[in-house]
Amino acid sequence: MPSQHNQKMKDVFKELDIARTKDFTFSNSHILGSMCTAPHPIAKKAYLKFLETNLGDPELFPGTKELETRFIQFLLTLFHAPKTATGHIVSGGTEGNITAMWIAKELSRKNKIIVPESAHFSFAKIASIMNMKLCLIPLTSEYIMDIKKIRKNITKNTAAVVAVAGSTELGTIDPIPELSDLCNDEHLFLHVDAAFGGFVIPFLHELGYQVPDFDFKLQGVSTICVDSHKMGWSAIPMGTLCIRENHWLEEISVKSPCISSKTQAGILGTRPGGPIAAAYAVTKYLEYDGYTKLVKRCMQTTQYMEKQITTIGLSVIQQPTMNVLGVRIKNPTRLVNALSQKGWRVNAVDHLSCIRLVMMPHVTKKIVDDFILVLKKTCEENGEL
Ligand SMILES: Cc1ncc(COP(=O)(O)O)c(C=O)c1O
Repeated sequence: MPSQHNQKMKDVFKELDIARTKDFTFSNSHILGSMCTAPHPIAKKAYLKFLETNLGDPELFPGTKELETRFIQFLLTLFHAPKTATGHIVSGGTEGNITAMWIAKELSRKNKIIVPESAHFSFAKIASIMNMKLCLIPLTSEYIMDIKKIRKNITKNTAAVVAVAGSTELGTIDPIPELSDLCNDEHLFLHVDAAFGGFVIPFLHELGYQVPDFDFKLQGVSTICVDSHKMGWSAIPMGTLCIRENHWLEEISVKSPCISSKTQAGILGTRPGGPIAAAYAVTKYLEYDGYTKLVKRCMQTTQYMEKQITTIGLSVIQQPTMNVLGVRIKNPTRLVNALSQKGWRVNAVDHLSCIRLVMMPHVTKKIVDDFILVLKKTCEENGEL
C-alpha cells in the first residue's frame, strides 16, 4: 500500500511539474510586461506558514488578524491617513475598485462614476455588476485625466470620481490635488486607484522625483486601493482598500450568522491569511528604506531601458512617470506574438500603438541588455525598424 501511495504522489507531481514547465516564470526574468513579480523570499516563507488560515472567520485566527491590523496600520501611516481611517484587505486592484464603488454607491444612493479613459478595465465590471454608469473623461496630451472636462459632467446622479495613480498602460498619475479640491467643493467621493502606484509614489517623493500628491494628505481623497502583489513585492492575491472614515465599512457589511464575527464587510467570505502574513512580513523586513531602495533601483532600470530603446532606433511614447514604459510600435500585437515565440513576454497596447514594458524588481540591467538584442532583431524581422 505505501508504495502504491508513493507512486500516486509521484504521478501527481510529475503532472504538476509538466504543467509548470509550460509557464513563463519571473525567475528567468523574461516577463517584462507584467505588473507582478517574483515574491520576495520572505513572502514565500511567511505565506506557507499561514496556508490554512481564514480571516473570513477571524476569531479562529486572532494571531493572523493581528498581522492584518499591523499591515493596515503600515499603509495608513504611509498614506498620511487620519485617525478615523481604516483598511480592508482585498484580493487586488479589481476587488479594491469594486469595494470602493460599492461604498460610494451606498453612501450616495447614486450610480454615475466619472473615470478617466485610462481607468483599468475593472470599472467595466463594476458598471455591469453594480448597474452603475461610467462617464469616461478624455486624457490630455500627457495621458492624464483632463480636469477641464470633468465639471460639466458632474450631475445630481454622480456617486464618485475616480483618479488613477499609476495607470495600467503608461504608469501616469492623474492631477489628484486638483481633483481633490474639486471633489471637496462638490461634496463628491474621490477614489484613487493606486493599485500599481501606491507602493511607488511615496518613495518617488522621498527620492526627489516631482510627482503629484495622491494620498489622504489631500482632504478630498476618500479611498485608495493599493496592491501588495504589484510593487509591494509580495505574493498573489493581495491588495488593500484604505478608507478615510472607518464607519463607511458599515455600508458594505451584512450580518454573518454561523461564523465567529457578528457582521462581515466586503465581498469575500472565506479570506486567505497567507497573502496577508506575506505582505506584512515584507513590509516589516524592508521597511520604508527598503522600499525606497527598491523604487530607486526600478527607476534606474527604467531609465536604462529607455536609453537602450532609443539607441536601437525606437522611441518611447513619453518620459516615464514611474517604472512603466510605452514603446512606440506600428503593429504591437504582431510584435508581442513574435517576442513571445522567442520566450519574452511584453504587452501590446494597440490603441496607443505601443508595447508596455514594466521594470519590476526581477528586471535587471543585464536582462535589459539581453532583451534589447532580441527586440532589435525582432523589430527588424517585423518591419518595425
Ligand atoms: C491601475 C490598476 N488598477 C487595478 C488593477 C487590477 O488589479 P488586479 O488584477 O490585481 O485585480 C490593475 C492591474 O494591473 C491596475 O493596473
